[in-house]
Amino acid sequence: MPPYMDPYTRSADHLDLLSAGLWQHMAPHVSAALAGIGENDATIVELGSGTGLGTCVIARTAPMARIVAVEPSSHLRAVLLHRVASDNDLRSRVTVENRPFPSSRLPEKFDALVMINSLGHLDYAERAQLWRVIAAGLRPGGCAVINLQAPTTSSAVPEFEMARERVGDREYHGSARAERVDEHTMIWHMTYRTSEEGHEIDAAEVEYRWNVLDAGTLESELAQHNLHANAAGDEQFGVFAIESDARRR
Ligand SMILES: C[S@@+](CC[C@H](N)C(=O)[O-])C[C@H]1O[C@@H](n2cnc3c(N)ncnc32)[C@H](O)[C@@H]1O
Repeated sequence: MPPYMDPYTRSADHLDLLSAGLWQHMAPHVSAALAGIGENDATIVELGSGTGLGTCVIARTAPMARIVAVEPSSHLRAVLLHRVASDNDLRSRVTVENRPFPSSRLPEKFDALVMINSLGHLDYAERAQLWRVIAAGLRPGGCAVINLQAPTTSSAVPEFEMARERVGDREYHGSARAERVDEHTMIWHMTYRTSEEGHEIDAAEVEYRWNVLDAGTLESELAQHNLHANAAGDEQFGVFAIESDARRR
């Protein structure tokens, strides 16, 4: 397996803090898409768990489910593992897997797979592998929950502030801009700043490639694997529940 190049090394200290607000808005959509999953002892795979904000939402929505939380960044995984290990309920049923998809050690069969704010890290071939894993692994009645982040077509995005939070005397800010590389790919440039009394005391710049996908392309890629997607919740969040075509019959 080639060494994993972690684009979150420099942003990991900001990420949990600055993503919490977003997850307050995202949580109801993910929960609604997972409704009915995990009433018994279901298995749920989460790809790209980050610091575990979504893992907690999955665990609350499916209180009997066992969860495999995949997080390849050791910096983010440290926060995830701390969150899981410090809660007796999470500790008893969340397994943390370190290898990136598609090398991750996943259960062969699962009742749901969740990948939020992370799909763009997979290129076309890895995405095809993901659809194959979902088509082969999803138990009857199960679904995969993903989101398509805007912009869903490749384009430049001028700098904007994503979030700002105060902790003690310091303020933590995250801003982002993007450049278009080609029809399928963008590069996101993120800046994470720390300031005190208006003075910047630290700034970290990170960048990563992002593979864009729109709803039409998603639908046609899924069709090749006998899968289909339904928009779940508020369109602005781009959440989709993916099911097997067999469920339609
Ligand atoms: C923007 S973060 C989102 C984290 C979390 N889902 C959230 O919404 O707070 C993207 C995540 O995808 C993870 N990731 C990147 N490539 C991956 C891969 N090939 N397999 C699994 N996770 C991956 C990153 O390490 C990071 O945790």
